[in-house]
Amino acid sequence: MEQPRHGFETSAIHGDGGAREGPVSPSIVTASTFRFSSVEDLALANAGKIRKDRFYLRYGSPNLTSVEERVSALEGSEASLLFASGMAAISAVAFALLRPGSRMIVQREIYGGTLSFVRDVLIPWGVAVEFVSIHERGAFESACSRKADLIFTETPTNPLCRIADLRDISKQAARAGALHACDATFASPYNQKTLALGADLVVQSATKYLGGHSDLLGGTVAGSAALVARIETIRRRMGAVPDAQLAWRLERSLKTLAVRVERQNRSAFEIAQFLSAHPKIEKVYYPGLPSHPDHVLARSQMSGFGGMLAFDVRGGEPTARKFVNSLELIAIAPSLGGVETLISPPMHTSHASIPPEERRRAGISDGSLRLSVGLESLEDIVSDLTKAFLSI
Ligand SMILES: Cc1ncc(COP(=O)(O)O)c(C=O)c1O
Repeated sequence: MEQPRHGFETSAIHGDGGAREGPVSPSIVTASTFRFSSVEDLALANAGKIRKDRFYLRYGSPNLTSVEERVSALEGSEASLLFASGMAAISAVAFALLRPGSRMIVQREIYGGTLSFVRDVLIPWGVAVEFVSIHERGAFESACSRKADLIFTETPTNPLCRIADLRDISKQAARAGALHACDATFASPYNQKTLALGADLVVQSATKYLGGHSDLLGGTVAGSAALVARIETIRRRMGAVPDAQLAWRLERSLKTLAVRVERQNRSAFEIAQFLSAHPKIEKVYYPGLPSHPDHVLARSQMSGFGGMLAFDVRGGEPTARKFVNSLELIAIAPSLGGVETLISPPMHTSHASIPPEERRRAGISDGSLRLSVGLESLEDIVSDLTKAFLSI
């Protein structure tokens, strides 16, 4: 765990120091390749001994390095990597740390896309996977009593915002001799210091809070320099490397991460309270509410509860659908973490690829709705919800 030199907001804006001279905003270096003054230098660069990010774009680039240094400062890591998507980041972690015959413990309550990747790719590849609910401590402890290679968790979970106990899981991982990788997309590095809580690697779908404007696709992985170097080899081999423009846009977004998430934390809390008091609502899942089953745990490992919440409308799926179709300001869309408030039923988005009985086992009903709270005026979001309630 690296100690940041500056506060979170300063690191997000200036990286880990900042040159005394030069452009305030970095230039975009669009070149896919770089010139060398001699064959000797070319050979040294190919061996990674000089100019690591000025050789060939798939091996790295100045804009990639700049974002990665900033992500390291925000996650408190020695190193980090930027990928072309969150799934590219997650799959690179798996391919770097697992082989056919490896054993992986996967938290049952995670993003459906990750579950599908495990099921459609890792299991046919020969990885022995055990799905365990993080809330059944006994089952988790017993899974960790045997040697494992990787434990993969997500907290808060998509969509119900359940909280995995990162300190405890990291201890269990050590017992199993496994590395612990955690997807902290819902929290963002602003609300949760995932590595300081014991995880070996933290993954973000940068498409969400890091990007923050629903206009880019990316992913990050942060951790020790040694682990990140193993993952970088996979990124280079498999090629899911974003280009310079993407990296530049992400760097620009990171500068406002703190103010965006701070505001989203506050608005989501207000909306969660509004929804829980509403007679047409059956249940609200927001870790900031004392009624949330993991509220105490969330308080102990998050500095803010995030901009995501889920809720069940009384009347199940048909009523939930009518409610959503009646919204005017809040957009019906997958994805999350942007400046716009978005709503979607997980059965048609994040968990569409998961069989219905498994979805229900994870606590996601056909009427569950997921809300990603944006940066609009709070009164306008509440007013849109209020009007839609009148339609059901
Ligand atoms: C929690 C979580 N992890 C990972 C991903 C995958 O990210 P991407 O769509 O950037 O590949 C998503 C996407 O919705 C997600 O919600």
